[in-house]
Amino acid sequence: MSKGKATIVVGVQWGDEGKGKVVDVLAEHFDIVARYQGGANAGHTVIIDGNKFLLQLIPTGLLRPGKIAVLGNGVVLDPPALLQELETVQAAGISVGQRLLISERAHLILPYHRTHEQAAEAARASKIGTTSKGIGPSYEDKAGRRGLRAGDVRDLAGFRQKCLEAFAEKQRVASALYGHSARDTVRQVDEYVSKARCIIPYLSDVSAHLNQALDRGQTVLFEGAQGTLLDLDHGTYPFVTSSNATAGGACTGAGVGPTRIGAVIGVSKAYATRVGSGPFPTEVTGPEGEKLRERGSEYGSVTGRPRRCGWFDAVAARYSARVNHLSALVITKLDILDHLAEIPVGVEYEWDGKRSTDFPAEAEVLERVKVRYEVLPGWLQPTFGLTDYDQLPAKAKAYLSFLSGQTGVPIVMVSTGPQRDQTLWMDRSLLPSR
Ligand code: IMP
Repeated sequence: MSKGKATIVVGVQWGDEGKGKVVDVLAEHFDIVARYQGGANAGHTVIIDGNKFLLQLIPTGLLRPGKIAVLGNGVVLDPPALLQELETVQAAGISVGQRLLISERAHLILPYHRTHEQAAEAARASKIGTTSKGIGPSYEDKAGRRGLRAGDVRDLAGFRQKCLEAFAEKQRVASALYGHSARDTVRQVDEYVSKARCIIPYLSDVSAHLNQALDRGQTVLFEGAQGTLLDLDHGTYPFVTSSNATAGGACTGAGVGPTRIGAVIGVSKAYATRVGSGPFPTEVTGPEGEKLRERGSEYGSVTGRPRRCGWFDAVAARYSARVNHLSALVITKLDILDHLAEIPVGVEYEWDGKRSTDFPAEAEVLERVKVRYEVLPGWLQPTFGLTDYDQLPAKAKAYLSFLSGQTGVPIVMVSTGPQRDQTLWMDRSLLPSR
């Protein structure tokens, strides 16, 4: 990896691929870890020395002493949620100090974003199954050019006034559309402003900071949240999140140009999961799916919802490899498949009498595609915690090589357990040289 270039980590599937752990492992080799989209809808679980951290908004890089953690302009920020997370991190003895930077251009999530989202979801015939964190409505206000931004908080009196006006306007909309009764707006605003003011010390021109750092030869890791198939443009629309989770989002969401990017690392489970509604062609229901869920502890880290489980979908992964132009793949949770004598992998779709290896754009088509599987032999041996590629059973190596061949992307790392050290490297050449 050449100096002055950033690396992006993205989810290849529908989120929950284990990016938190992967970013935590990679962070050791980078100076700065930056998030560029999404908000407190992301659930990044990191286990360090037996301590479990569930971060939803703060980049996992903050857990490594000395690293700078950045929230870019593309993130939507919920100050009360941020404060709660900061308290958890500090209570674990991790000092934050000047190591957190928040873009003054990041849009804020206000309490009405959550209530509107809940009301809008309830009114929809076809539910998205959102995390109810107010993400979509905040991005709607951003695109509608009526959002409030983190930098607005600096002028507290002006910010309070803007909040009063916005709350009153949203109140009118909520009562007209959803019959919501009037609330004590002033009390709500004062409560919100008292929490929002705590972000002031962290506000920064993040784009300037990142570009200057890259110019000095420092290393930057962009931490994507959610996954490619939840991307607003490239995902299974409308069953998507409201931001660009794909690699391109890092440039617009942090203010760095595309020529700054040196590598894009895609993270995928050795199988597949999805939370919320929407198409999932390789989904496995019944006892087989249940077994994957139990073995993989597949329950949403933000909402606690059981995740839908299924087989690795090479059609979808190839598509993700293309839209992100992946340089490398990291495969997580390989050990969850240790009990299987046979492991199906989806390799082709068939619909309306035609067979295709392309990923269709329409959710309606994805709902009815018939998947053609290739069935690979399982290894039926424990791989949990292995740290050396040579220790892997031959059939596990063959499985990984099949995934790599199907996606056309080399696998550089495999995660064999939730701890930092339960990781095996196949190729470290993408790591920054010091
Ligand atoms: P939203 O991001 O809360 O608007 O939710 C939109 C869709 O994205 C829903 O299906 C959520 O379950 C899903 N989603 C959002 N964040 C995550 C995540 O971090 N992991 C997995 N699914 C997510």
